[in-house]
Amino acid sequence: MNKSLNLEIAGLKLQNPAMLASGVLGLSAAPLERIVESGASAIITKSIGLNPRIGNTNPTVVQTECGLINAMGLPNPGIDVFISEIYEMKKLEVPIIVSVYGFSPTEFAETAVKAVKAGADAIELNLSCPHVEKTGAEIGYNPKLAAKIVQKVKEDVETPVFVKLTPNTADIAELAVAVEKAGADAITAINTVRAMAIDVETAKPILSNRFGGLSGPAIKPIAVRCVYEIYQKVRIPIIGCGGITNWRDAVEFILAGASAVQIGTAIAFKGIQVFTQIVEGIKEYLEKKRFRSVIQIVGMAHKN
Ligand code: FUM
Repeated sequence: MNKSLNLEIAGLKLQNPAMLASGVLGLSAAPLERIVESGASAIITKSIGLNPRIGNTNPTVVQTECGLINAMGLPNPGIDVFISEIYEMKKLEVPIIVSVYGFSPTEFAETAVKAVKAGADAIELNLSCPHVEKTGAEIGYNPKLAAKIVQKVKEDVETPVFVKLTPNTADIAELAVAVEKAGADAITAINTVRAMAIDVETAKPILSNRFGGLSGPAIKPIAVRCVYEIYQKVRIPIIGCGGITNWRDAVEFILAGASAVQIGTAIAFKGIQVFTQIVEGIKEYLEKKRFRSVIQIVGMAHKN
């Protein structure tokens, strides 16, 4: 493995900057071996809550010309059942980061504690799902509430705590500052952009939930702007996420200020080999530009 791609985020050692984003394939351990073989340097699981949740009724996903809109509704088996999957995931030789949601600071913390006990190397707090009431973006858009959740989880777990922020807010950098002050170890930016699609034949919203979250290439410029703005205001590492489908996208995020990136929707369009393509592409870019390490280019766009 090429050392120029090695990096560390909040003490977690990563072989390269390309991580699997939450929401895609992270509900069971079985398919993850191939994702890691393809080059993913860390796994972020699907968001897990304290109790099982069925999620929304179908249709829950709609494909657009520029990405996917999903309103899955946070389906998951609950942390007590998910623990056995964490044990399995721990056999992979990459950090396992469990994404956690909740309906109160205590619920976030209780779920996080159980995940860490099962072996999670870090927690990613989902303060940004845009399509479930009373959690996700509905609480995560409020800097005070977001900070309260981070503080409570940080009191109760010893692993690093990442916070995934919503772009559905006037000032994402304000949120980033609030969670950094509350003790967050890293920021993931961004989650999906609230969106909808309407069937012109039936004249009805397509998703059963009406609204969902848009992911994929359409949101990449929004995500790059968010990372750039956050980088100007905080010192903790940023993990870029949103519409990354090739190495150029990944490098763009890193130049904007991301130390690493997460890839999700691209797997649906390009297959799991997308990790190999992105990792190889970043490596060749560094060689061509004569950089010794990917760390050298983090935030470089701010100097120009
Ligand atoms: O429903 C879901 O699992 C989606 C989560 C999210 O958008 O954060």
